[in-house]
Amino acid sequence: MAVDLLLGLQWGDEGKGKIVDVLTKNYDIIARFQGGPNAGHTLEFDGIKHVLHTIPSGIFHKNAINIVGNGVVIDPVIFKKELEALEQFKIDIKSKLLISRKAHLILPTHRLLDAASETSKGKAKIGSTLKGIGPTYMDKTGRNGMRIGDLEMSDWKEKYRALADKHEAMIDYYNVDIEYDLAELENEFFKSVEALKKLTFIDSEEYLFQAQRSGKKILAEGAQGSLLDIDFGTYPFVTSSNTTAAGACTGLGVAPNQIGEVKGIFKAYTTRVGSGPFPTELFDEDGETMGRVGNEFGATTGRPRRCGWLDIVALKYAVQVNGVTELMMMKADVLSGFETIKICTAYNYKGEKITHLPYNIEAENVTPIYSEMKGWKEDLTKMSKADELPKELAAYIEFLEKELEVPIKIVSVGPDRTQTILR
Ligand code: IMP
Repeated sequence: MAVDLLLGLQWGDEGKGKIVDVLTKNYDIIARFQGGPNAGHTLEFDGIKHVLHTIPSGIFHKNAINIVGNGVVIDPVIFKKELEALEQFKIDIKSKLLISRKAHLILPTHRLLDAASETSKGKAKIGSTLKGIGPTYMDKTGRNGMRIGDLEMSDWKEKYRALADKHEAMIDYYNVDIEYDLAELENEFFKSVEALKKLTFIDSEEYLFQAQRSGKKILAEGAQGSLLDIDFGTYPFVTSSNTTAAGACTGLGVAPNQIGEVKGIFKAYTTRVGSGPFPTELFDEDGETMGRVGNEFGATTGRPRRCGWLDIVALKYAVQVNGVTELMMMKADVLSGFETIKICTAYNYKGEKITHLPYNIEAENVTPIYSEMKGWKEDLTKMSKADELPKELAAYIEFLEKELEVPIKIVSVGPDRTQTILR
């Protein structure tokens, strides 16, 4: 049975958590394949709002198995807090949440290194969530990392000590002013590791292989967005993993010819949190309205998100790099009330009109070229069928489908599970 993928097509925060939660009823297994607690996947149902960071978004469904894949980086401290927040739901975590032995561990010193690196960059900082993601993936590719499977070995504390000591020397090298009490951080870390060790560790690639063989339906859940991909994103203002479709193969051990549908999620407008280029960013009342109505604050850091119009040039790029077969448009309700909707369909790049994403999209090189469409006034949040949508929104959807050459299968009109229109 093929493995379907669900990916963010912008700079993250597209609403992946909500859609995975909505789609889980169609799947046996939900598997996260990259990223770590820099993600904040928000789910709302039965009047409850829940934010997940490392745990896959299928965890609230009775029958789904949730896997944290080898491509994910895990901070035991944050993981333990996530588990505690789930306690009220009485979920059988031991059998429903399985963790890859090959997933890497975020150590307290990885977080400190992240802070030291960002501080040393001054104005050029990435705007990292400071969860230790970059330094942990650096240790992974540098072949120095610690993995979940190491926790089953008797010498894991010695391994930990050697790596943490090395990190301390690196922090000194940065020569920046960051205050920390490592003994306190380690105390919390060791306690959290003990909590983590109570969970079920698996050889996830083998588990998933057997699951595919026996016809189980699997959904791979991406984190962040395609434009934050380490290779294809707006480097260096990116995260440290492959957020695009290929990341699901390396982050789960799923063969490329086993990938089925590639479901791409985008917001009806664009947001970005942290530093880096953003051609359609608005600095006016329209941008302020999107941020306010869309409640655009980071689910992990609480930082206000930068807002702007939809960028078809960037979106098309993400559709191509991922091989998207179905689209999902989120937060259409936030655009209700705008007289005019603008859509960036091309860039003026160093004086030339282009429709592809170039190497360098800094503001001094790129000016967006917009098409305009009539907006709609109706409140969408109580609508449940495609034929109820205002004709202007239907025209917007049709325009996007034509430009992107992929059908839009879901239109989300609010944060709750129920506010989801299937087309
Ligand atoms: P890091 O991955 O925490 O180091 O952050 C690198 C960049 O990716 C920063 O600009 C972050 O704001 C951004 N980023 C990381 N994770 C997310 C996410 O889940 N949603 C949106 N932006 C993210």
